[in-house]
Amino acid sequence: MLRIGPLTLKTPLLLAPIAGHCDLPFRLLCREQGGVGLASTDLLNSRAILNGSAKTLELAATCPADDPCGMQLYGNGDDPLPEAACWAVDHGARLIDINMGCPVDKVAKKHGGSLLLRDCSATTNLAERIVKAVERHSGGRVPVTAKMRLGWDAEHFVAPRLARDLESVGIQAVTVHGRWTVQFFSGKADWARIGEVVSAVRNIPVIGNGDITEPMHVISLLRETGCHGVMIGRGALRTPWIFRLAWELLQMPTPDPALLREPSVTDKVSMIHRHLELLRSHNYSERHALHMMKLRMAWYGKSIPNGKLLRESFRIAMSLREMADALSAFGRTSAAGIRETSPSTIGGAPPERPTTLTGTCLSFL
Ligand SMILES: Cc1cc2nc3c(=O)[nH]c(=O)nc-3n(C[C@H](O)[C@H](O)[C@H](O)COP(=O)(O)O)c2cc1C
Repeated sequence: MLRIGPLTLKTPLLLAPIAGHCDLPFRLLCREQGGVGLASTDLLNSRAILNGSAKTLELAATCPADDPCGMQLYGNGDDPLPEAACWAVDHGARLIDINMGCPVDKVAKKHGGSLLLRDCSATTNLAERIVKAVERHSGGRVPVTAKMRLGWDAEHFVAPRLARDLESVGIQAVTVHGRWTVQFFSGKADWARIGEVVSAVRNIPVIGNGDITEPMHVISLLRETGCHGVMIGRGALRTPWIFRLAWELLQMPTPDPALLREPSVTDKVSMIHRHLELLRSHNYSERHALHMMKLRMAWYGKSIPNGKLLRESFRIAMSLREMADALSAFGRTSAAGIRETSPSTIGGAPPERPTTLTGTCLSFL
């Protein structure tokens, strides 16, 4: 359980926003796998929301099964962030998150994201305006949070001070991705510095983020930093069931990864079928859905023996029907004899580095 102001999450495990990936069907899929306490939309441009941009409204889509859903906004002090936050409250957001970590030029050069780490006082003022607007608009029902990096670079470790200042103006939780802006996604997340942010705040929860690829890493991050919740990004793209397994570990008196059971190949094939179904039922165009599933298979394939074959079938598929057929054929072959994934893949080995996604995923911004 994790409390963020008035919101109580069933588990302290959060699905990270990953632009171009964590859309509504994927959030629902992770939730159905179990263990997700909160999932959020990817970053949404405050102006585009208020202008009614069709692309942004699609990204902001949620539904009752996607509850509780956070909506993440980005912008700078000149943008209508308070107004966009009120719009989000009216459109199903149970939490508003301010993006203070996006390193991509298109965002961080002038619009916000990591740019907000460069002037902490201005950012705190902006956060205060958003908090006040949301408090008034939602009657105190919807908390406002911030997701930040450690700082722009190693000479500017601003996260502890910024988190404390944000708390003083009513921000109700901070998520800290343990990298500098200049690192983008390279190198290793610095968990020790996340711990320094935990020590800096007074009462609000800190959610640690970065390089969680195995359920046991959740336990390690909580123990090493004292953080209150854990956000998982790329690890969930490969293994959307990671939340359920991590939640099982968290409930064991002595967490033991050997007691966990990874889904079988048959389970994984069913999950991918389900993802196709979710894309169809949420009215994504065939073209967009095909594109999404090709991206997805690049990740899912990594956790399936002979997943390369499936990846190739998806790469050349011209329709969702073809994908579903390829999946069914693969499932039959697996059931007929291909050895299923060994449960030993679950161990608590040190974090491996997730594959870096390309910036092209942000091309819609
Ligand atoms: C392609 C890509 C897109 C991302 N989009 C967002 C985003 O929209 N909002 C955000 O706060 N973080 C975004 N992130 C950062 C992740 O939420 C997360 O902080 C980062 O990937 C580290 O966590 P992980 O190691 O669990 O993936 C993105 C990361 C990647 C790789």
